Amino acid sequence: MTHEPVLLAEVLEFLRTSLHGIAEPRIVDGTLGLGGYSESILEGLPGARVLGVDRDPMAIALSERRLERFASRFRAVHGGFGGIGALVREDAPFDALVFDLGVSNMQLSEAERGFSFQHDGPLDMRMDPHGDAPTAAEVLEEKSAEELARIFWEYGGERYSRRIASRIESERRRGRRLATTGDLVALIRGLLPAPVQRKMGIHPARRVFQALRIFVNDELAELESMLESLPGLAAEGCVVVIVSYHSLEDRIVKHRFRAWEKEEKRGKVLTRHPILPQEEETARNFKARSAKLRVFVFS
Ligand SMILES: C[S@@+](CC[C@H](N)C(=O)[O-])C[C@H]1O[C@@H](n2cnc3c(N)ncnc32)[C@H](O)[C@@H]1O
Repeated sequence: MTHEPVLLAEVLEFLRTSLHGIAEPRIVDGTLGLGGYSESILEGLPGARVLGVDRDPMAIALSERRLERFASRFRAVHGGFGGIGALVREDAPFDALVFDLGVSNMQLSEAERGFSFQHDGPLDMRMDPHGDAPTAAEVLEEKSAEELARIFWEYGGERYSRRIASRIESERRRGRRLATTGDLVALIRGLLPAPVQRKMGIHPARRVFQALRIFVNDELAELESMLESLPGLAAEGCVVVIVSYHSLEDRIVKHRFRAWEKEEKRGKVLTRHPILPQEEETARNFKARSAKLRVFVFS
């Protein structure tokens, strides 16, 4: 199981510069995933102590194994970063808070997690399969056509949101359930005319899948609530590093950083414009193509 970390060199460079002179920096990796960032931080900053957070219990188990050799320099905590204030409070304050939002390749490539339109599996999409969130199948089963259309449009920017939502509702009336990712892909493929699908330039189900994933995991509210907590966890000079993968997330980060700087006078935005991956990285790693890195430093 692998996940190639995105913008890793750039993230490490910001950490190295900002943590220069701190012998044992305390760092939160708020989206541990497979531990790619954490491993490079622990290797690259020999005094660093990392506290990893992830809401996916599989990610926690895998990275605990991967990072075992760092012994007491690394610890993992299970939970959503929306509640990070309470999750890591005992170890605060921190010198760096790092977040690499979205899903990992591990989640995307495991068919039974239901995130991928490329692998057939149950329509699940919960990052924490033991949590209270409804599965994607339950959302499609229970929400009205109007609500589904809103979800597809707001979180996926899907132009055909109404058409897709009303087809889902009419299928439901006929007693047909969408139970698998394949069922949903087939419905979308069967609905959109072939020339439209060709013109989309992306997989025709990509936007609906993104929208459902954001809704199921309440991703934007988690992000807002995490940002709200960060000032309370930051040591003086703490650097906040966030990589986002779509404009909804990036906008929230950008506005919050700006408010911290201009209105609340908490510190300084270090990235006037977001940092994007080099062409060489996007050619090697498809997931990197939409990544944006923003950095803030608390004074
Ligand atoms: C892009 S991956 C991180 C990959 C990691 N940087 C690496 O190099 O292996 C994002 C991770 O964040 C986790 N995640 C997403 N939203 C979360 C949230 N609200 N709370 C906690 N973890 C979250 C996902 O479960 C996933 O494992």
